[in-house]
Amino acid sequence: MVVANRLPVDVSLGEDGEPTWTRSPGGLVTALAPVMAQADGAWVGWGGSPDLTLDPFEVDGTQLVPVTLSADDVERYYEGFSNDTLWPLYHDVIAPPAFHRQWWEAYRRVNRRFAEAAAAQAARGATVWVHDYQLQLVPALLRELRPDLRIGYFHHIPFPPLEIFAQLPWRKAVVEGLLGADLIGFQRGGDAANFVRVVRRLTDLTTRGQVVTITDEHGRTERHVRAAAFPISIDSAAFDALARTDAVQERAVEIRHELGNPTILLLGVDRLDYTKGIRHRIKAYGELLQDGRLSPSETTLVQVASPSRENVGAYAQLRDEVELLVGRINGDFGQVGHAPVQYLHQSFPMEEMAALYLAADVMLVTALRDGMNLVAKEYAAARSDDRGALVLGEFTGAADELAGAILVNPHDIDGMKDAITYAAHLDPREARKRMRRLRRRVLGHDVNAWSREFLAVLTAVPQRDSHV
Ligand code: G6P
Repeated sequence: MVVANRLPVDVSLGEDGEPTWTRSPGGLVTALAPVMAQADGAWVGWGGSPDLTLDPFEVDGTQLVPVTLSADDVERYYEGFSNDTLWPLYHDVIAPPAFHRQWWEAYRRVNRRFAEAAAAQAARGATVWVHDYQLQLVPALLRELRPDLRIGYFHHIPFPPLEIFAQLPWRKAVVEGLLGADLIGFQRGGDAANFVRVVRRLTDLTTRGQVVTITDEHGRTERHVRAAAFPISIDSAAFDALARTDAVQERAVEIRHELGNPTILLLGVDRLDYTKGIRHRIKAYGELLQDGRLSPSETTLVQVASPSRENVGAYAQLRDEVELLVGRINGDFGQVGHAPVQYLHQSFPMEEMAALYLAADVMLVTALRDGMNLVAKEYAAARSDDRGALVLGEFTGAADELAGAILVNPHDIDGMKDAITYAAHLDPREARKRMRRLRRRVLGHDVNAWSREFLAVLTAVPQRDSHV
């Protein structure tokens, strides 16, 4: 059973009162949906709209169990504590996190609701896999309700260093919530190490390597919790196959044609989030046009920025800043019939994304901080022609894995300008060599391998207390 803040689909009620759905945004769903489509399991999560109460229903063979969030829960638990406290805190405080006691209360209340929903659904001795920062209290709450379960937790975003984590007024409760799991997975070894250091400093528990020993009130060992890195991936073969279809190949040619067949097509694809480094990237591009290192009439940057968390202030502000910057660059360097930045504040289906990846000469994934970043992996999976180049920010989880990318420090605008220029004029032989390395990694370690590895470690945990 999967427990995540979001269901894999956003549900809304049609005029006839019947639920209709579209795919949910973000990397978590991109990764987990194909895993669950092959498993015979249930998925507990929120349908994406306030005050929606629905009976469980089935999509693509997965039983979906909706959890209701009121408008107040959405505001305080989802937009507030999850996305205006934890998200910025866990991403290097790029934006200042807000600490509000009412938001924390809502986070506790909603985490309890998810734990109760999972406890009511799970079969005896089942394996429950809890996901991401919105639900860090669920492992302990669930263990209390159902000690017979095996509980795994995977953290999709970075886990910060102690010095940052310790700012959180409720830090101890969060750590204790996570320690309810038998296995806690992170994207990178560095995240797991940060977590273990936090446990050592904020609790009295003993740790040995990445294993934490939980004791009862008499100091007797109760169980062990393991923290480890399991870098997430995508359904690489399916993406590769999609990008090879005639429809996608033809669409890629059509996209270039519609853009006026630029000599160099650069591409950025992100949720519109301040962690993604969109402003820094567009600034670097604008300066390259200004300096004459890229020709405005021969170059196009397509920036897909899918709408995200629009009620959170920092996101609304980012949108204004990005749109101002795009307007300036197009105003200064555009011509009738040609804008050097094509900015699309929209979400697109996978087929269109695959065509954009194929059309692009250079993919820019220059996040300031990112747990993994699956766009980088999708780009590699799409390029069976072994062409194209990936410019990748050092502070993404993907940078730990993807040798073959051109790495940049996204805060270093001059360095980024050099990397973009280098990538735009990459010698085809070097491009091929790099892309082959990228593809070897992405195709050789897909999301099924990721979940298999995580679940193998989790199910090796000795079964406890199944007669409760
Ligand atoms: C990231 C997070 C996910 C989240 C997704 C989309 O990938 O790790 O937990 O679901 O962003 O964000 P949203 O707030 O729309 O769910």
